[in-house]
Amino acid sequence: MITQQTIDRVFEVAQVEEVIGEFVQLKKSGSSFKGLSPFTDERTPSFMVSPVKQIWKDFSTGKGGNAISFLMEHEHYTYPEAIRWLAKKYNIEIEETEQSDEQKEQMNERESMFLVSKFAKDYFHDLLMNSQNGRAIGLSYFKERGFREDIIEKFDLGYCKDEWDNFTKAALAKGYDLKYLKSTGLTIVKEGGAQDRKFDRFKGRVMFPIHSMSGRILGFGGRILTNDKKAAKYLNSPESEIYHKSKILYGLYHAKKEIAKQDNCFLVEGYTDVISFYQSGVENVVASSGTALTPDQIRLVNRLTKNITVLFDGDAAGIRASLRGIDLILEQGMNVKVVSFPEGEDPDSFAKAHSTAELKSYLEEKSQDFIEFKVSLLMEEAKNDPVKKAGLIRDIVTSISKIPDGIQREVYVQECARIMDISERVLFSELAQLINKGASKNSTQSTQRASEKTKMELVKGKASGKGAQKIDQLTILEKEIIRILLLYGNEVIDFINWVDVVDKHGRPMLEKEEYQNSVSNELYLNLQEDEIEFSNELFRLTYYELVHQLNQKEKIVIDQLIMHENTNISSLVTNILMDEEKYTLSSWERKEVFVTETAKILPKLVTDAILNLRRVLIEKKIEGILQDIQEKQAVPDLEEISNYTELKKLLFEKLNRVV
Ligand code: CTP
Ligand code: MN
Repeated sequence: MITQQTIDRVFEVAQVEEVIGEFVQLKKSGSSFKGLSPFTDERTPSFMVSPVKQIWKDFSTGKGGNAISFLMEHEHYTYPEAIRWLAKKYNIEIEETEQSDEQKEQMNERESMFLVSKFAKDYFHDLLMNSQNGRAIGLSYFKERGFREDIIEKFDLGYCKDEWDNFTKAALAKGYDLKYLKSTGLTIVKEGGAQDRKFDRFKGRVMFPIHSMSGRILGFGGRILTNDKKAAKYLNSPESEIYHKSKILYGLYHAKKEIAKQDNCFLVEGYTDVISFYQSGVENVVASSGTALTPDQIRLVNRLTKNITVLFDGDAAGIRASLRGIDLILEQGMNVKVVSFPEGEDPDSFAKAHSTAELKSYLEEKSQDFIEFKVSLLMEEAKNDPVKKAGLIRDIVTSISKIPDGIQREVYVQECARIMDISERVLFSELAQLINKGASKNSTQSTQRASEKTKMELVKGKASGKGAQKIDQLTILEKEIIRILLLYGNEVIDFINWVDVVDKHGRPMLEKEEYQNSVSNELYLNLQEDEIEFSNELFRLTYYELVHQLNQKEKIVIDQLIMHENTNISSLVTNILMDEEKYTLSSWERKEVFVTETAKILPKLVTDAILNLRRVLIEKKIEGILQDIQEKQAVPDLEEISNYTELKKLLFEKLNRVV
């Protein structure tokens, strides 16, 4: 692990405008820089960098953060990768923390496996390009298949000589440990006889190195050159510490930028499909390498885009087998389209036989919504068979039930009812059953749905339905509290409080009380008193972080939040700061006015935020009780209801008084 000192040093030295300047052309604009968003194809600049605050914000996508989060968004680095990149740029030496012997060993093991894999990649590539044997056999094979040399270079293709242990010998001679040659599967050791015999796994094959998302070599696929039906066409690296087939998508390293930019990912089956598409100028393409898609693979794509287009070879059996995998994609809330190729063609052969323009327009024209595709495919099979048709309806509804978004589900039901010529009612009731069944099993996903919904509503700034309004109000209030803490948390101001007392007739009344406190303390004490937990996970985490700072340093340190390792927190914080900046930057006078105005209303801002939060929570409580009465026919606890109603009235009074 990289030490905290190194990380701090990197943050100290790195200048956000310099880092971003390597990727985006920035122009000075007031105290900030402006440029075209690197995440969209916009014409007017809406990308801002603040050197003072050391943060950036892209107003066209809503993304924002610090130098690290920019590298993570733009280069798709992990946190440590981003730190390493910056350390290199600024010539900072990286210190690693002490590790236990076991950790060290495991780390060394993986590191050694990566090293030997990289050596193998270079060795095979060098053979392919520079040896007579490699050129005559390997390179000419690729050329015959129509691969251009620049593409062969780009994908680091290679060749493993048709000798028993040519590669193994070379690796051992270079000092690589046999242990790692074995664990990566590059060398197979046969025990027995006077001495163990060693073989190259990929003997006589052309090599496709498999890169991780950040470009390290995880393993290989090797293709046989002959048409020998008995030998496996492809051999792949065995599962190991570094090669997990289910977590790998071939081509992702080369495709990631274009996937994010095009906001779509083409999914094909094989190595050659990826390479041919890339060569034809369709670069947002990855392959599942011939296996059924896994949730881990989908998650990799999900980081880059919400849209997947699955490409099918022209054989029906293959399509049927893939249908189930696609439900997994829907389940992760992604939009799925499909394109099928003519009988006997795969994406590779199709791309070869057509121009780039033809390929692109084919992809565009033939791309079909997955559910509609599935309906028409299955309808064809079930045409005159009512029993089959019933099964098919269930099958389709199962797919629809995987879609997290309710509105989208509804649209599909309507569409499918039309295509299948059955009533929407039947589909809806089938769907309701499936969703109820799934809901109890799958509560994490439905909370994920809920939080997505609130996020949506926050973006829109207003709630639509009645149910949504409650969640919405709560999240808005929670965000407001975070905003106040960030912007004014360290200010000390005069507060007025209305204390609940009882008058001489025993009736509750309010008495005025004045005192001084810091904004952060005031909020913290009030929330703690009520044992209020934020409902929105991100706000809750951010709040904990703020409280932690208050406990340790008795004030809020914004910089630490901007640099926070959890990019969700740092981007929330920068978004709030940048929104404020955008508002105040636009005019100097406005800034003046703004500052004095805020100071005047600050006490009210704080108390209102607390009181409103309490009010909404109480309303929810009351609503919950009423709902229980209605649904479970619970015996109403009249006293409880009247207590809450009384409380609510009191809060309203307070809210109105603090003017
Ligand atoms: N595959 C594999 N092992 C095999 C066959 C296939 O791992 N014995 C994987 C490879 O990743 C291959 C993918 O499945 O790229 C698709 O298989 P296929 O369509 O048969 O191969 P193509 O990619 O079309 O390869 P080629 O065009 O060279 O025949
Ligand atoms: Mn093929």
